[in-house]
Amino acid sequence: MARVALVTGGTRGIGEAISKALKAEGYNVAATYAGNDEKAAAFTKETGIKTYKWNVADYAESKAGIEKVEAEIGPIDIVVANAGITRDAPFHKMSPDQWKEVIDTNLTGVFNTVHPVWPGMRERKFGRVIVISSINGQKGQFGQVNYAATKAGDLGIVKSLAQEGARAGITANAVCPGYIGTEMVRAIPEEVLNSKIIPQIPAGRLGEPEEIARCVAFLASDDSGFINGSTISANGAQFFV
Ligand code: CAA
Repeated sequence: MARVALVTGGTRGIGEAISKALKAEGYNVAATYAGNDEKAAAFTKETGIKTYKWNVADYAESKAGIEKVEAEIGPIDIVVANAGITRDAPFHKMSPDQWKEVIDTNLTGVFNTVHPVWPGMRERKFGRVIVISSINGQKGQFGQVNYAATKAGDLGIVKSLAQEGARAGITANAVCPGYIGTEMVRAIPEEVLNSKIIPQIPAGRLGEPEEIARCVAFLASDDSGFINGSTISANGAQFFV
């Protein structure tokens, strides 16, 4: 039986590419989204991948959503915690709401996504937890105290889960994308993107979502079983850990 993969934020941006790549590898994929019904419907029409709507920042919603996925598709073997938001502002202008929204979605959202699937993975002695972190969790970023904190936190989560899951056949790894050509990056003021960001990428270009999706497909596979607690950086040589 094909393994089941859950991708949060799986209908747009990097998540969309991940959902499609995992489907192409033969997984039964479920993709979640938070708000854009129109885009989710178009995604399902194009790919045949089922979508589920819930807010990853809410534990009860996540748990209920995951139970629904498991009832409809099967126990989740691979979980890709990808959903994330930005609320960029220089620190002196960052509001407590901008801080909290990003922490709740990007960091607590990972807890809320992985915690409900973890007991099943432990019982079945197999699991792949893949968290989409960011180059900006590794190096920090002007205007992203909130976002960088969450993405650095993701790395702490996978390193700890790796140790807890290893003997139960579960791996936990992170992928740190650099600047990828998605709506999130295109929302950066064009002047800032062209003058401050692209010149810092030795590859001289933004990455493609598919370049991240291929890393995830590898981490999801049986072949990656001894890679645990790692971070794959895919950033066009912009930053080395
Ligand atoms: N480094 C140094 N200085 C910077 C800077 C940077 N990266 N970005 C902006 N500045 C400077 C500007 O040059 C300007 O300086 P002056 O006042 O001397 O002209 C000043 O900061 C702008 O200050 P403002 O108070 O006007 O800032 P603002 O309220 O307009 O907001 C910002 C600035 C929101 C941080 C904006 O610059 C921005 O969006 N920057 C991009 C942040 C970023 O990289 N976000 C990543 C989004 S993509 C993503 O998150 C995906 C991923 O994982 C990679």
